[in-house]
Formats: sequence, structure tokens, C-alpha cells
Amino acid sequence: MKRLLLLSPILILTLAACAPTKPQQQSTIPAPAAAMERTVPQGRVIPVTAELWKFTPNVIEAKKGEVVTLQITGVSGTHGFSVPDLGINETIFMGKTVNIPLPTDRAGTFSFACSIQCGSGHSEMKGQIVITE
Ligand code: CUA
Repeated sequence: MKRLLLLSPILILTLAACAPTKPQQQSTIPAPAAAMERTVPQGRVIPVTAELWKFTPNVIEAKKGEVVTLQITGVSGTHGFSVPDLGINETIFMGKTVNIPLPTDRAGTFSFACSIQCGSGHSEMKGQIVITE
């Protein structure tokens, strides 16, 4: 019995030493990543990449009323995907993917551009979203 009592503090210390690993692992999950993937892709998914210094494709086409998700993946650098006329402005981090529902209620051509100063080719990062009737 006495041996058990002596052993138990050692056990408790051992457990205590091991315990912190779990909370630490949880805290290493960056909050922005969780937020970026909050949107579940719906309808047709259009993969787009953002890199130094271009969006691919730079012309994105959809039909009016079509359900479309833009799935933008950061390849290099940090960029902003901004479509002012559609109320979109998302930050695209390298190695992360953002799902953006594309509003298709209006036909038209909507310009997009990088909205974060990302270096010498920043001003070349632009394109168009074309929504046809
Ligand atoms: Cu990419 Cu600015």
C-alpha cells in the first residue's frame, strides 16, 4: 500500500507532463485557415490560382443564375482577390484555399484585381468575370 502511495505522485507527474501536448496541438491550428474554409463549395467549382503575379485563369465565365463557387488557391505570395462590383474582397494566402460563392444574379463583365500590395507585378494581377445571359 505504501509503495502505491509513493508511486501515484510519480504517475500524476508523468501524466501532467504528457497532458499539455494536446492543447498545444490545437492552438497551432491557425484561426484564419479555419475561417477561410468556412464556405462549402456549391454548384460548379472553378479552380483559380493566385501567384506572383497572376490569377489563372484571368477570364472566368459563368451563366446568369448558375450556382458557382470560385475556389482560389494561393501558390506564391499573399494576394487579395477583389471584385468591387460583386462585393468580393478576400485575402489569398500561399498554400491556402478560399471558397467564394460567385454572385450570378446580374449579367455583365466585372473586373477583378489583386488588392494587396504584393510586389513589382502587383498591378498586372487582374482579370474579368464574364456572366452571360
Ligand atoms: Cu498580388 Cu498584389
